[in-house]
Amino acid sequence: MVESKVLVPELRARKRSGPKIVAVTAYDATLARLLDAAGVDVLLIGDSLGMVVQGLPTTLPVTLEEVAYHCRAVARAARRAQVVGDLPFMSYQTSPERAVEAAGRLVKEGNVEAVKLEGGLPMAEHVRRIVEVGIPVMGHVGLTPQSVHAMGGFRVQGKTAPAQDRILADARALEAAGAYSIVVEGVPAELGRRVTESVSVPTIGIGAGPHCDGQVLVCYDLLGMYGDLRPKFVKRYAELGAAVVQAVETFAAEVRSGAFPSAAHSFGPVAEPSALAPAAEPTGSSPIVTGEPTSFAPAGDDDA
Ligand code: KIV
Repeated sequence: MVESKVLVPELRARKRSGPKIVAVTAYDATLARLLDAAGVDVLLIGDSLGMVVQGLPTTLPVTLEEVAYHCRAVARAARRAQVVGDLPFMSYQTSPERAVEAAGRLVKEGNVEAVKLEGGLPMAEHVRRIVEVGIPVMGHVGLTPQSVHAMGGFRVQGKTAPAQDRILADARALEAAGAYSIVVEGVPAELGRRVTESVSVPTIGIGAGPHCDGQVLVCYDLLGMYGDLRPKFVKRYAELGAAVVQAVETFAAEVRSGAFPSAAHSFGPVAEPSALAPAAEPTGSSPIVTGEPTSFAPAGDDDA
C-alpha cells in the first residue's frame, strides 16, 4: 500500500479539521491517473457510468459486473485517492445479505476500498451488515438517482418540511449504522447545511450547497465533456468536449490533406509525396518506404 493513501480515518477527521474532501467520479485508468495526480481525495466509480460511459438515460440498467470492471481499471491507477465503488440498482436493496455479497464482490473483484449505496433509513440495516464484515460504506441521501421513477425525474429533493425531516432522519440512520461518510445530492443549500451539522461523519455534497464537508462532481461534467445540458450545480472547469472535437477535426483535415503522418511521425526515410501517387506505383506494391524500423519507441528514442 502506498504510504500517503487516503484512508477512512483521515476522511472522518476532515469533518473536524478540514480541508474539505474532494471527490470526483472516474471510470477508466487513464483519467483516474490524471485525477489522482491532481490530488483528489476520493475516486468514485459511480453508477453514473451508465449515463456518461454507456449513453443510457438512467443508471438503472448498470450491473455489478460492469461496475466491478470499471473499478478494477480505476484501482490500478489510483496511487493516493481512496477508491469507492457504487453498488448498482438491485444489487443490494432486496436484503442485507445480498448487500453484503454485492459489497464483497466489489472489494474482491473491483479492488475498491469502500462502497457507496443509495437510500437512508430503509437501507440502515444493509449498511450495518456491510460495515460489520469490514467494508467501509459511504451513504447517499437526498436525490437518489436509482429512485428516478419514484421521484418523478431527477428533481431537487427536500423542498417541504416533512421531506426535509425525512432526509435528516435518513442521514442520522446511516451515521448510526456505521457509514463513514454521506453523499448529499440535489437538496437546497440550507438543508445541506442542516444535514452536515446533524451528523458526525463528513457529508459530501453534489448540488447540496457550500456547507457540506466535501464536494463531488462527475468528472465528465467538471471537464465539460458531457452533453449540452448544464445543470445549475455543475461548474465546468474546462471545455474538453470542444477541445476534443477541435483536435479530431484537425487530425481529420491533416489525414485528408496528407499532412499527417509526416517524416517526424514515420519510421525510416519517407518518399516525397510525388512518389506516393498511385501512378508511381504501377505494380501496386506498398508506397511506404519502410527504412527497416526496429521499434515503436517515441521519436528521438530510437530510429525516428
Ligand atoms: O453515480 C454517481 O456518479 C454518483 C455521484 C454523482 C455522487 O452517485
